[in-house]
Amino acid sequence: MLINSKKMLEDAKENHYAVPHFNINNLEWTRFILEECEKEKSPVILGVSEGASQYMGGLQVVSAMVKSLHDALSITVPVCLHLDHGSCVATCKEAIDSGFTSVMIDASKYTLDENIAITREVVDYAHGKGVTVEAEIGHIGGEEDGIADELAYAKVEDACMLANETGIDTLAPALGSVHGPYKGEPKLDFEKMEEISEKTNLPLVLHGGSGIDDEKIKKAIHAGICKLNINTELQMEWAKAVRTFLKEEENVYDPRKIIKAGEEQMKKAISEKIHLLASNQKA
Ligand code: 13P
Repeated sequence: MLINSKKMLEDAKENHYAVPHFNINNLEWTRFILEECEKEKSPVILGVSEGASQYMGGLQVVSAMVKSLHDALSITVPVCLHLDHGSCVATCKEAIDSGFTSVMIDASKYTLDENIAITREVVDYAHGKGVTVEAEIGHIGGEEDGIADELAYAKVEDACMLANETGIDTLAPALGSVHGPYKGEPKLDFEKMEEISEKTNLPLVLHGGSGIDDEKIKKAIHAGICKLNINTELQMEWAKAVRTFLKEEENVYDPRKIIKAGEEQMKKAISEKIHLLASNQKA
């Protein structure tokens, strides 16, 4: 059974570790992640962007695929299926009705009042159905699904207002991380992270988890991050392995062999991330 993110993230907050959120792009990706998390005994949040959902045939298809893979692989670790960056109330409701156990409503491009109103509408619907909600404050920026935009750091007062007035379960404050590859060093504002964590008392989410060095990730967990979102890094590791395979095996054309060529490298990256996120964990 898929579960929402509430208990997972509360436990992470209490015991000072972070749950990995890995974005899925297809069936194989989902299988690789589920198998490796089961092997490592790690809870996992499977993130699905709107673009990835459309690519896979829509939210219903994704939900059915994840549920049947979860059961067919006899997965026993906690698994949450999460809509990543839901752009409007209608898409969040559709994800919830399709069986997603968690949604992110990203109304960060609107004014604070609008963000609050939109987020609250999602929370009302989601909580009635046992689904958890993540919201964004400030604007994370970078490049995702081929769309590039600017980073805007979150303000502590805005983060508190959004948290207090909506009843969200988790908050993603933009504090220097961006989606996609970094141009230069990420400048994370750890002080603000800690202040937002203390004042909202919510488990915080760090988006743009690829390309941030291990020490900074540990520091972020110390400052209140309970969920780390990773997409680009797995894509790069998979693509690197597949590129090498295709250069060496010019006559292979079976897509199963080609996609599988990235499995080992991708699973290695997943396992390393799991160990990193658990390394601050209280015994
Ligand atoms: P990266 O692609 O930079 O890892 O970011 C993923 C993310 O934040 C998904 O919401």
